Amino acid sequence: MKPSLSRYLVAPLALAVLASSTLAHAQQKLDVLHWWTSQSERKAADALADALDRDDIQWRDAAIAGGAGIGAMKVLKSRLLSGRAPDVAQLIGPAIQEWAELGLLLELDNVSTQNGWSRAFFPTIWTLVRQRGHVVAVPVGIHRINTLFYQKRIFAELGLTPPRNWAEFERVADKLKRAGVIPLAQSSEPWQVATLFETLVLSESSPSFYRQLFTRGNEKLWFDPRVTRALERLRRLKQWMPDPIAERHWEGVARQLASGEVGMWVMGDWAKGELQTMGLTVDEQFGCMPVPGTADYHLYSVDTFVMLADDYGSQVQQEKLAQLAASPAVQARYNQIKGSVPVRRDADVNQMDSCARASWRTFNRGALVQAPSMTHRMASDEGLKDAIIAQLHRYFADEHIPASETQRRIAALARALGNRKSED
Ligand code: GAL
Repeated sequence: MKPSLSRYLVAPLALAVLASSTLAHAQQKLDVLHWWTSQSERKAADALADALDRDDIQWRDAAIAGGAGIGAMKVLKSRLLSGRAPDVAQLIGPAIQEWAELGLLLELDNVSTQNGWSRAFFPTIWTLVRQRGHVVAVPVGIHRINTLFYQKRIFAELGLTPPRNWAEFERVADKLKRAGVIPLAQSSEPWQVATLFETLVLSESSPSFYRQLFTRGNEKLWFDPRVTRALERLRRLKQWMPDPIAERHWEGVARQLASGEVGMWVMGDWAKGELQTMGLTVDEQFGCMPVPGTADYHLYSVDTFVMLADDYGSQVQQEKLAQLAASPAVQARYNQIKGSVPVRRDADVNQMDSCARASWRTFNRGALVQAPSMTHRMASDEGLKDAIIAQLHRYFADEHIPASETQRRIAALARALGNRKSED
């Protein structure tokens, strides 16, 4: 009699406990939408997922392939509109403020205060993650776009020194070509063309000119001779690129540099992360330096996560991810894999390789040397960015289009998009 009674009593209790623990467990998950699908990006995302896992929260991956997040942003918007917003999303640049203004983002003020973010982050980063005094995003790493990678073995074999100015670049490129190596890697993917172009604009001008050029309301600057020179250099550099220029994923281009098929490559330092994941080490198999004319500048893109507010059902877990992602230990580990540098002023430079150290130290000099990447969403809104990139791509592909026509077209688009905004 006794055992069966206890069975009757215990069984429902056990079921209830089981049910509640299942429920609790079901809540311990975060849906994370991002565009990190290359090998190194995957590994870097896993570093964040592992940290979360140690707190018993599962990172449910919703990665959308496509360099620079072209596809991911489309998926994110459509998921949001159809009521299936992820808990966490990679969102970069001014979009953070726009989305916060719409009330879509969870405020992270408590996490920020408890972890001293206002003092820990670089001032530029601290400004970037706030809207109307509230913290609405967690920054994970700073990428440097104006990076020139070179193949050390080939440079050593040919006795070449990495170029510090464009005249040296031409000489090095010529020697590489004569030795049967493609001097400069390039893909014709529009965002990769734009990544090179914006670096050339900075090389021809300064962070303040760059900043104004890509901001609304300054369309006249598109006629500036510094833009003409950047466009002309973009076209002239084609003589050193593969012929034809294939539309290759950036990971594929990284493999070309690794194998020695190409000698140099201008790309954001996520390329360093990818080369490392292939087993190559900076300063051994490949070198990294600022693009000619940009040594004192930092053309940056900050990878950032936002937490979608929704019904606040995942708030505890979302706050945990924010706290972990910005913590010194996770910052050091994640950025080492990703190729970027910590967003923190207290980061340990002694743990960094030469490429990261130069990036972090340059960024640390402050806003006067910093230029926000247009292509990687830090400078303009999505509409203007896409319009500029489409025109640059046309100019790059069709040698018959004069620089002046591209300047005129972009200026007109910038004016039209700017006006539309002010009429709203
Ligand atoms: C950038 C992003 C980087 C890297 C790169 C290539 O926009 O900030 O984290 O993933 O695209 O996809």
